Amino acid sequence: MDKKEEKTLRFPPGFLWGAATSAHQVEGGNINDWSEWEKVNAVRLARRAKTYWQSWQRDKFEEMFDEKNYMSGRAVGHYNRYRDDFKMAKSLYHNAHRFSIEWSRIEPGEGKFNKKEIEHYREVLVSLKECGLEPLVSLNHWTLPLWLAKRGGWLSPKISFYFNRYVKLIGEELGGYVKFWITVNEPNQYALNSYLLGVWPPQRRSVSDFFGAINNIVRAHKKAYKTLHALNPDCQVGAVKNQTFFEGGLLKYAAAYFHNRYFLNKTHKYLDFIGLNYYFHNRIKGFKFNHNGQERFSDLGWEIYPEGIYHVLNDLRQYRKPIYVTENGLADKDDKKRSVFIKEHLFWIHKAISEGVDVRGYFYWSLLDNFEWEKGFWPRFGLVEVDHKTMKRIVRPSARQYAEICRNNYLKIFNISNS
Ligand code: FCB
Repeated sequence: MDKKEEKTLRFPPGFLWGAATSAHQVEGGNINDWSEWEKVNAVRLARRAKTYWQSWQRDKFEEMFDEKNYMSGRAVGHYNRYRDDFKMAKSLYHNAHRFSIEWSRIEPGEGKFNKKEIEHYREVLVSLKECGLEPLVSLNHWTLPLWLAKRGGWLSPKISFYFNRYVKLIGEELGGYVKFWITVNEPNQYALNSYLLGVWPPQRRSVSDFFGAINNIVRAHKKAYKTLHALNPDCQVGAVKNQTFFEGGLLKYAAAYFHNRYFLNKTHKYLDFIGLNYYFHNRIKGFKFNHNGQERFSDLGWEIYPEGIYHVLNDLRQYRKPIYVTENGLADKDDKKRSVFIKEHLFWIHKAISEGVDVRGYFYWSLLDNFEWEKGFWPRFGLVEVDHKTMKRIVRPSARQYAEICRNNYLKIFNISNS
């Protein structure tokens, strides 16, 4: 007879539970290289949607044909609503929160720093503290001030100087509130899309620009690491990496080397922890990528493959660093798949932990529905739904299921066993 067996998977004491956001995707009112790019590209992206997405996606998300979908504009108004948003996270039993500081607000002109904006982020940090949320602060989540973009962005020979000057100021002003700093978000994914595939600003398509950008990010990271430690030897400085689980022929070794390990091999001596973003499984056949099963997928058509997080975590063992899962999530407007998605990923994370991988936190992407870069507003990643007209927040049922896990610091699963 089939017997349902309940199992409790406990997470380590002090495990951080929360969700992640990034400034440009939620704040609203940002003026940076992306907001400029959106103005020029919104019409093109709206037109492209007719052929780019599959018919079930086009039928379900008509807003993809509207150019406004591609303009971040007021985003989800988090810049003014952060207090309520954090209270909501608290009520969902989160004990930590990842967000980013918008460089273009802090330094709108070269070397000209905006005191009011520094105060804003001080208040954000105070508010997190009041809600009992440990902050993980990203110093750059892709967007750049306009003056810097004009000087070549991550290809500028002075980029590590510029980045370090900004990081030092933030460290001096806000360091008292922050234990965990993240210098950069997904250097590999960013360099790939911005400098090799040409789909994000500044739309370069060049192998040498791709490596130029990554190598400059490596330099900037190391410098920022030293600066933040000089200011506070006790702080923890990491970088966030997007890791893909590659399977298949010989090509998987090259793909894993460049995508997963290139940046980490160069920076691991300057990392107190690794932030892991896991979204992708990539099965390679011959020279073709993405031969994936499509049994389960998100609104974006991304395959759901929870086991992959176990493999990428195992691969990260070699660096012997604490790991925080800084992003993991899916676009799921109807909230039909989200809670199972979270639980399955946590199952595999727990398995990795029980086998000795030092994972210390999990941040779902994202707290709120938000502006998903060149795809705009239609993909709905939030634990909390946002009505983009009224800005009203509506807690999704999956958020409550996740809240139970956060509250208990354990996950209950059911095994079906034959007896
Ligand atoms: C990650 C990004 C994040 C969000 C998710 C869906 O690559 O870091 O900003 O767009 O993907």
